[in-house]
Amino acid sequence: MAAAYDAIARDYQRSKSSPLRAAIESWTIDRLLGDIRGAAIFDAGCGDGFHARRLQAAGASRIAGVDVSPAMIELAREAERRTPQGIQYQCCAVEDLPELPCAAAFEVVLAAYLLHYSPTFEVLQRMCLRLANVLEPGGRLVALCENPDQTVADYAGYAAYGFDKSAVEPRAEASRIAYSLVAGRQMIRFDTYYYARSSYERALREAGFTAIAWHPLQLDPAADGADWYAAYLRNPPVLGLTAVLSGAQARVQFA
Ligand SMILES: C[S@@+](CC[C@H](N)C(=O)[O-])C[C@H]1O[C@@H](n2cnc3c(N)ncnc32)[C@H](O)[C@@H]1O
Repeated sequence: MAAAYDAIARDYQRSKSSPLRAAIESWTIDRLLGDIRGAAIFDAGCGDGFHARRLQAAGASRIAGVDVSPAMIELAREAERRTPQGIQYQCCAVEDLPELPCAAAFEVVLAAYLLHYSPTFEVLQRMCLRLANVLEPGGRLVALCENPDQTVADYAGYAAYGFDKSAVEPRAEASRIAYSLVAGRQMIRFDTYYYARSSYERALREAGFTAIAWHPLQLDPAADGADWYAAYLRNPPVLGLTAVLSGAQARVQFA
């Protein structure tokens, strides 16, 4: 996976200038996160640090970002050098994260488009365990994951949004899904893996998470051209997924 994103890091960053990013992706993440002012946030699979920077600017007290791709982490560090925000970035696979001392635990883990990169259910289990390890009891996970409710036939219809989604192999647990994205004048490609809702939920439960809930994508009501987003929202390629690590009551409630 590191190699996959190393090869496309800058092009992937360019592809994210799509209006979907602000109007749906960031809007949905922010609704699911709720009030993060003063919260310590761990951005798992942080990519170029796009959300880490936004959340720091929105008042998070401490942010750390981790990504398996050295090239993505370099883009994040480059942005941090340009405009220092005190965000720490580390290159590491989430499933191999070292144990954190309790005092360094986080209140929130953001995992935007991460869990579905697990090539096997065992890796998904390890990712969930490691994410539980960085949270304090009662801490929350906010994720965007492959929409497990889509059939393979539903993968069509994203050309207007600048990407293509297709099944590489017949639908099964951990079957591969291919994405092609327009990035400037180039196309970039990466694969994700399909898991049923029950698999995500089982991996999270086994890691100690409760209150597991799926959420539809939401559109910023202030976004121009709501009609353009309608088909995307009717057939969302990803869904929100939230969970709470069992233990003390969560400090911040879901919005
Ligand atoms: C689609 S990008 C999303 C980046 C960022 N979360 C965002 O929303 O802008 C997925 C990121 O997950 C990273 N990734 C994939 N598998 C990973 C793993 N096992 N551990 C850590 N990062 C991983 C990739 O390198 C890539 O940067």
